[in-house]
Amino acid sequence: MNAERTAASNAPGTTPSGASPKVAVVTGAGSGIGRSVALELLAAGWSVALAGRRTETLEETAALAAAASGARDEAVVCVRTDVSRPEDVTALFARVGEHFGRLDLLFNNAGTFGPGGVPVEELPYDAWRHVVDTNLNGAFLCAQAAFRQMKEQDPQGGRIINNGSISAHAPRPNSVAYTATKHALTGLTKALSLDGRPYRIAVGQIDIGNAATDMTERMQSGILQANGQLATEPVMDVADVARTVRHMAELPLEANVQFATVLATNMPYVGRG
Ligand SMILES: NC(=O)c1ccc[n+]([C@@H]2O[C@H](COP(=O)([O-])OP(=O)(O)OC[C@H]3O[C@@H](n4cnc5c(N)ncnc54)[C@H](OP(=O)(O)O)[C@@H]3O)[C@@H](O)[C@H]2O)c1
Repeated sequence: MNAERTAASNAPGTTPSGASPKVAVVTGAGSGIGRSVALELLAAGWSVALAGRRTETLEETAALAAAASGARDEAVVCVRTDVSRPEDVTALFARVGEHFGRLDLLFNNAGTFGPGGVPVEELPYDAWRHVVDTNLNGAFLCAQAAFRQMKEQDPQGGRIINNGSISAHAPRPNSVAYTATKHALTGLTKALSLDGRPYRIAVGQIDIGNAATDMTERMQSGILQANGQLATEPVMDVADVARTVRHMAELPLEANVQFATVLATNMPYVGRG
């Protein structure tokens, strides 16, 4: 069921320090934040499994990595995965174990906003379920599989970074499913952070506001504000998010960024507008 592909590259199979490359899984790696984080990690010498539902966009990410940073031959594997399907997630982490032998980082990033602009009283239950299945159940399934691998492997331990949102703190109008799941991710982060302590598993969360991706195209054309008006909003470069995630990822396991908030400086959030 899962399509796999290994990308070509030239760099030696070790990091500049001579240690074995660290291994990451990035979900939603075929676009936006996931792609940018995957490229950042690969350029820094990590090995990365790229996961998402569309094989062709994962392969584009792999090709971009090979062109931009000459990632090693064995450094990239593309695994077609729907994170809301338990059997897909099981197959993803089995493939990572076979190909790389261990797991140091899960960037739990795949997500969907769901149908925008639908008032709560009109939201179909299927639409609610799709957002919950992707953003919460998918994140749980991936975190559980990563946790199991990190607990069992030798040396033990690893890091999980959940991609929350400013919506983990404050809603936009007509975003009940997205906001509820992103608030729930904060609970997932805290619970896993506690449960990971005995096993050297560090769990943190990045809460992003208005990185320029497909998901935030509406920010630049006009998006509904809390006061009922439409307004354009500032966005920031997705590469600035990727650098933050890499910083969190490369800390020693004895240190953890529990929550990081990275947002377009002038977006409406602080100051209630
Ligand atoms: N951009 C922002 O300012 C911002 C702000 C706060 C939070 N975030 C969060 O950042 C994450 C990435 O968003 P983005 O802005 O980069 O938007 P995006 O480009 O739309 O990325 C979403 C990614 O998730 C993948 N995905 C969706 N459903 C999936 C599923 N069931 N299984 C596997 N992969 C799935 C998509 O790939 P496929 O369609 O190929 O599966 C896509 O690559 C999301 O969790 C989002 O909530 C973004």
